[in-house]
Amino acid sequence: MTKPFSQACENNKQFIADVLQSEFNAATRVLEIGSGTGQHAVHLAKHLPHLAWQTSDQPQYHQGINLWIDEYPWPNLKRPIAFQVGKDDWPKGQFDAVFSANTAHIMQRSEVQLMMQLIQQHLPANGVFCQYGPFTENGKFNSQSNADFHRHLVAEGYGGYRDITELQQWGKLLTLIDRITMPANNLLLIWKKQKTQE
Ligand SMILES: C[S@@+](CC[C@H](N)C(=O)[O-])C[C@H]1O[C@@H](n2cnc3c(N)ncnc32)[C@H](O)[C@@H]1O
Repeated sequence: MTKPFSQACENNKQFIADVLQSEFNAATRVLEIGSGTGQHAVHLAKHLPHLAWQTSDQPQYHQGINLWIDEYPWPNLKRPIAFQVGKDDWPKGQFDAVFSANTAHIMQRSEVQLMMQLIQQHLPANGVFCQYGPFTENGKFNSQSNADFHRHLVAEGYGGYRDITELQQWGKLLTLIDRITMPANNLLLIWKKQKTQE
């Protein structure tokens, strides 16, 4: 197997790293949900050496992620664990931050709902969740290409784009503290776990 490669990851990884350097500055242990190729993990772990970066995904992605880690074996980068929202329990260990890129439009709606619920349940107070990808806002797409891609995803059986409002409803213990416009009509949503539980 050759290393899996995503051009989109190459294009967006440094923009994401620039934001995470401040948003994750107080974090120590990050769970990445849906690591995919592993490209984000090797890049972000390199640029955030103070963090232990735990990759995760469905088992069929692990070989590819491991090939990237074999080539860039940063000491703070952890080999993938099996975690599929809706199938597996929340991974063991304490994580004070979560990162997930381009997963919410691939998962089914119920899985995204569960992901928001699990994150708010397991993050400690002030824990941060950085969520990258395309979203709708108040039901509106921010580009025609995003509207077209959403329709294509739904036709293929994927969940399609989620609206920021529904994410807020599902993660009521998470406060959306920032919404950063990223290249290619994507957003980086910064969620922070509230200090006290309701
Ligand atoms: C479009 S890829 C994005 C991969 C990578 N994060 C990136 O930005 O290139 C979607 C990822 O979501 C993962 N995924 C889909 N459903 C999932 C679920 N229920 N739980 C966890 N990950 C899931 C897939 O396995 C895949 O790695």
